[in-house]
Amino acid sequence: MTLLLPILLGFLASLIGGLYLLGVFRQRRPGEPPLDKGFIPWLGHVLEYRRDTAKFLERMKQKHGDVFTAQLGGFYITFMQDPLSLGAFVKESRKRLDFNTFARHLVYRIFGYKSMGNEHPILMSTSQKHLNGAGLEVLTQSMMHNLQNIMLQEIDKAGDQRSWMEDELFKYSYNIIFRAGYLSLFGNVSPMSEGSAEKAKEKDKAESEDLFHKFLKYDHVFPSLAHGILMPREKMEAEKLKTFFWNTLSLQKVKTKDNISGWVLDMQRAREEMGIKESMIDRYILVLLWVSQGNTGPSAFWLLFFLMKHPEAMAAVQGEIDNVLKESGQEVLLGGPLINLTCDMLMKTPILDSVVEETLRLISAPTLIRSVVENMTFKMADGREYHIRKGDRLAVFPHSTVHSDPEIHPDPKSFKYDRFLNPDGSKKTVFYKAGKRVKYYNMPFGAGVSMCPGRFFANNELKQFVFLMLVYFEFELKNPDEKIPDPVLSRLGFGALHPISEIQFRYRLRF
Ligand code: HEM
Repeated sequence: MTLLLPILLGFLASLIGGLYLLGVFRQRRPGEPPLDKGFIPWLGHVLEYRRDTAKFLERMKQKHGDVFTAQLGGFYITFMQDPLSLGAFVKESRKRLDFNTFARHLVYRIFGYKSMGNEHPILMSTSQKHLNGAGLEVLTQSMMHNLQNIMLQEIDKAGDQRSWMEDELFKYSYNIIFRAGYLSLFGNVSPMSEGSAEKAKEKDKAESEDLFHKFLKYDHVFPSLAHGILMPREKMEAEKLKTFFWNTLSLQKVKTKDNISGWVLDMQRAREEMGIKESMIDRYILVLLWVSQGNTGPSAFWLLFFLMKHPEAMAAVQGEIDNVLKESGQEVLLGGPLINLTCDMLMKTPILDSVVEETLRLISAPTLIRSVVENMTFKMADGREYHIRKGDRLAVFPHSTVHSDPEIHPDPKSFKYDRFLNPDGSKKTVFYKAGKRVKYYNMPFGAGVSMCPGRFFANNELKQFVFLMLVYFEFELKNPDEKIPDPVLSRLGFGALHPISEIQFRYRLRF
C-alpha cells in the first residue's frame, strides 16, 4: 500500500499533465476572445487550417466574429481579422509581441540553422544598408546585367530570330528571376578562375540552372517542412537537398566568386565575427537564398500571366515602358547593344507599379505571427478590448482580412491593373472601409518589425523582368481563353502562391 500510493499519485499527475497539454482544461476566461479548440485534442483545427487557411478563417469568422482563438497543433492562436485594427498589431511593442521566437523555431525546422538568438538586428542593419538607397542601386544594376544574360541566352542560340518559342510560364518566369537574383546576390564565377569571361558566363548559367532545379524540389516540400509533416521519403529527399545547398553555397565556395553582394558578404562576416561555426554559417546562406528567391519567381509568373490575360493592361504598360525607353535615348536594335535599364528609369513607371501592387494583392498570402510574451490587452479600433494570454500567439492573415475585403477593394477577386492609380495617374494610397481610412490596405510584404526588408529590391526585380520582357519580346498565352489557375492551397500562409497547374505560352523577339 505504501508503495502503491506514490505510484498512483505519479500516474494521476502525469495524466493531469497530459490532459493539460492536450488542452482539455483550457476554458475561455472573461474578457478573452471566443475560444474554439476543435474536436481533436492538442491538434485542434490544424488539419483544416493547413488544408485551406482562407476557408478555415472564413468559417471561424462566420461562427465567432473577427477575433477568435483557435487551437492549432498545441498552440492557441488568436486571429485578428478587422482591417481597421491592424495598427494595434503592427505597432505593439516587441516586449509584448515577439516575432523572433517564432521565426527562429521555423528557421531551424526548415533550414537547420540554429540562431544565437540576437541576430535580428544584423539582418535589419545589413538589409537597410544593401537593399536600400545606394546599395539597392548597385544590386539593381547587377540584376539588370544578369537578367539580360539569362533572358537572351536561348535567343543567341536560336537560328531563326523571329520564330515563336513555347514554354511553361511558371517554370520560365521562376527560372529567370531565380537565376538572375541568385547571381546578383551570391556572385558570379570569376573569369580569372575559368580562363575567360565567356567560360565564366557559361559556368554561371550551368550552375544556376542546376541550383534552380534543386531549389524547385525543395520549394515543393516547403509547406510540409514548415508544418513538420514530411513523409519519411520526402524527409530523406529534403535532407539530401539541404546538404547539397549547404555545400554549394558554402562560405568557402561563395568567397571564390566575383561581385558578391554586400548583403550576403556582411551577413557572413558578422556571423564569423560572432564566432559562429563555418558549417552553421553555410546553413544560414540557405536561409538567405530562400528568403530572397522563394517569392519573387512565383510573383513574376502571375505578373506575366495577368498581363497576358488582360490586353488593356498589357497595352498600357507597353506604352509606358516604350516612352521611358525613348526618353532615355535608347533603342533596341538587332545586333545592337543591350539596354541600360537604370533605377531612375524604373521610377518613372506608375502603371507598372500599380500592376505589380495589384498582382501582389492577389497572390501574396503570408500569415503574420507573433508570440505573446506577456499577458496583454488588445485594443480594437472600435473600442473593444480582448485579453490575450502570455504563451499564446497572435496572427493576422492579410490575404483574407485586407486584400479580399470588397469594401476596401471592390470586386476583390478581379485583376484591375489601375486599382492603385488615381485618376490623374499618380499612385493611389487612400482606401476606405465603412467611411474610415484604411492604413494597411495592401500587405504582400507583411508589416511592422518583420516587414520584408527586401521589398524594394523585389519590386525592382519584378519591374525589370516585365520591362525587359516587353522591350525584347512579344508574348502571348497559347490558349487566349486560359482560365486563371487555382493556387496551391497548402501555400496559403507562406507568401507568394503557386498555380496548381502550368500555363503554356509563347514568345519571340520583337525586332
Ligand atoms: C515578391 C517578393 C517577396 C515577397 C512577397 C516577400 C514577402 C515577405 C514576407 C511576407 C515576409 C515576412 C513578413 C512578416 O512575417 O511580417 C518576408 C520576410 C523577409 N524577406 Fe521578403 N519577400 C519578397 C522578396 C524578398 C527579397 C528579394 C529579399 C532579399 C533580397 C527578401 C528578404 C526577406 C527577409 C530577410 C525577411 C525576413 C525578415 C525578418 O526576419 O524580419 N524578401 N518577406
